[in-house]
Amino acid sequence: MSTAPQNVQAYRASLLHFHADPAFDDKAHAWHEDGLLVVEDGRVKAAGEYAQLVAGLPPGVEPLDYRGKLITPGFIDTHLHYPQTDMIASPAPGLLPWLETYTFPTERRFEDPAHARATAEFFLDELLRCGTTTAVVYCTVHPGSVDAFFEASEARKLRMVAGKVLMDRHCPDFLRDVEGQLGQSEALINKWHKRGRALYAITPRFAPTSTEAQLKLTGELASQYPDTFIQTHVSENKDECHWVGELFPQARSYLDVYERFGLMRPRALFGHCIWLDDEDFARMAATGSAAAVCPTSNLFLGSGLFDFERADGARALLSLGTDVGAGTSFSMLQTMNEAYKVARLKGSYLPALRMFYLATLGAARSMRLEGTIGSFAPGCEADFVVLDPKATPLMARRTSHCESLEELLFALALLGDDRAVAETYSGGRKVHGRGE
Ligand code: GUN
Ligand code: ZN
Repeated sequence: MSTAPQNVQAYRASLLHFHADPAFDDKAHAWHEDGLLVVEDGRVKAAGEYAQLVAGLPPGVEPLDYRGKLITPGFIDTHLHYPQTDMIASPAPGLLPWLETYTFPTERRFEDPAHARATAEFFLDELLRCGTTTAVVYCTVHPGSVDAFFEASEARKLRMVAGKVLMDRHCPDFLRDVEGQLGQSEALINKWHKRGRALYAITPRFAPTSTEAQLKLTGELASQYPDTFIQTHVSENKDECHWVGELFPQARSYLDVYERFGLMRPRALFGHCIWLDDEDFARMAATGSAAAVCPTSNLFLGSGLFDFERADGARALLSLGTDVGAGTSFSMLQTMNEAYKVARLKGSYLPALRMFYLATLGAARSMRLEGTIGSFAPGCEADFVVLDPKATPLMARRTSHCESLEELLFALALLGDDRAVAETYSGGRKVHGRGE
């Protein structure tokens, strides 16, 4: 009979994680080619060299053997819309017609809680298949869409952030909040924020769809609940930026609209940030706000190219988002692939190490969740992904002759997708196994 303690597990594989941003620190990552990850009670106990750690395992604990595979912290997707799952890959000439033609009619269906719950289940399956263990998620204006999402993520014990969309103008009547009422959001905060692993995000859709009265109340709610998240869109598309200039002539910039209403603060995540200037990025850094960079969406809608150099010049907090359904993939590996190409088109360069940082610790830092998710520091929640560098014949061929870690990670990011995710674990429990 085994005497192994039930609450300790160990995994033998190559291990990669970060304790700093590789763009600014030469020694930002830890890499153990023959590594061991030790998990106790759903949290990381240790991560290091197999040869050093194996002797310290409690008697009877036999490491699971993932040699030939690579374990990283679970990916964190800081911007996407679960109600838009069914409209991924819908064609439209740019953001504003895409919202009118597809988004609003699709989101209307979330007045039906059963539809919301079924979509949330599919969406979570898809995230886990892609190795994403935490996501920052837009629901719809319907409070039931938030309940459906958190009920689904709570049943799976996932670390998820989500919120009810706020919108009280420039939208169809069937998606319009009653002006001047934020009671539904406050009730959802009280119901869900910090319940289990759920965290709430106050979610004004974007400046054009909120009246000044709604933005003012949203800022007040955000200061009343300072440890909630805020999520919105900013400076995604040129037509949108022009429209915001007309609607808010007193603001210095689009981003400044949010600052004027008290919506720039730690845990505020701004999707896109394409057309920000130096002053805007300086405000991002000074206020502790973070950019969610969404390259597949930006290329798909033709919105523009994120300027990594400008953002790094200000030391703004950065992370990656898929922005499904404008984004074209749930995979953070494919999101890295397109981020790399966006950087090249802007004349800059994103090393693979940086991309893996942005999808893990960079996101956790943007969310003020360092020490909870995003790395294998002792005590972190044991959310991790087992990546298979030989997942496809082409990947196997290419990764059989990598000369460096950078080359290996680059091939994973450029060639990988859900097929490269062998297993996904959340809180030390397996939540996805490819082929099972
Ligand atoms: N701006 C306002 N709403 C949306 C949305 O749903 N998707 C994207 N990509 N941009 C937006
Ligand atoms: Zn979005």
